[in-house]
Amino acid sequence: MSTAQAVDPAPFKAALRDQWDKSAAGWDDHAPQIRAWLGTATEAMLDMAGIAPRSRVLDVAAGSGDQTLDIAQRVGPDGFVLATDLSPAILALAKENAARAGYRNVETRVADGESLPVESAQFDAAVCRLGLMFFPDPLQGLREMHRAVRPGGSVCSMVFSRPDRNPCITILMSTALKHAGLAPRDPFQPGGLLSLGKPGLADQLFRAAGFGDVATTAMDAPFRLPSARHYLDFVRTSASPILQILGRLDRAAADAAWAEMEQRLGEFATPEGWAGPNELLLTVGRH
Ligand SMILES: C[S@@+](CC[C@H](N)C(=O)[O-])C[C@H]1O[C@@H](n2cnc3c(N)ncnc32)[C@H](O)[C@@H]1O
Repeated sequence: MSTAQAVDPAPFKAALRDQWDKSAAGWDDHAPQIRAWLGTATEAMLDMAGIAPRSRVLDVAAGSGDQTLDIAQRVGPDGFVLATDLSPAILALAKENAARAGYRNVETRVADGESLPVESAQFDAAVCRLGLMFFPDPLQGLREMHRAVRPGGSVCSMVFSRPDRNPCITILMSTALKHAGLAPRDPFQPGGLLSLGKPGLADQLFRAAGFGDVATTAMDAPFRLPSARHYLDFVRTSASPILQILGRLDRAAADAAWAEMEQRLGEFATPEGWAGPNELLLTVGRH
């Protein structure tokens, strides 16, 4: 079984690496907000992957290492975490963050998740938090994680679920496309934010990669911020695909698009602040 290749992988990944290199500092600056947003789901991901004291863990698409720190804490000084990412700049921040937090059990290695520079069966577990949906060939990414873990080891990924459960992402995308004069896109297009949100797809890919005991759990993860404008500030610094779309517009046209997004996202304002609905899928499989 293979996933559709709607993108040309080499230029797609080169562009993605460039965007994440540029967005590295902005993503890292939002670490406290990201931690509040994803903290509960991250603990669930580590539980599902069976990560425990002394575990050797592969962290794929680790970004600036927020979940790497949680893993390092959980595995303890006798465990080990290898954090990998396509973007050298964001991974450099993961290394700095781990060193600053005093973890000596963390190493980093720049790597495309579809071709991991690790020996087979070296890890007890692997995780991939909000990374796999960016892979042009997520099945290949899962095959690589399957190869990296020992028999009996587990892999758990976290991705966004269906478009209707992630209305902020669909609002951003539809507004940006409309202002750029572009046609609506298939939300499940490979490499897109919602590409693995199609019900059943993640399980299917895990099984095709060789995993058994595959199971998916959906989790609500509302992004709570003071206002829609704070969410857009996060989006502006997070290598979102909408930045490329809006990059085609002149300043005034882009400002009009941002203003409409803010107005539409205002529907998620509550008396306690802004709460953007998000649903995540945690999928686990055993080697
Ligand atoms: C949304 S960030 C998530 C980072 C981190 N896991 C977190 O949750 O904070 C997505 C990350 O996926 C990485 N990425 C995208 N495609 C990749 C690939 N093919 N191989 C490895 N990393 C990739 C990006 O460089 C980026 O750091």
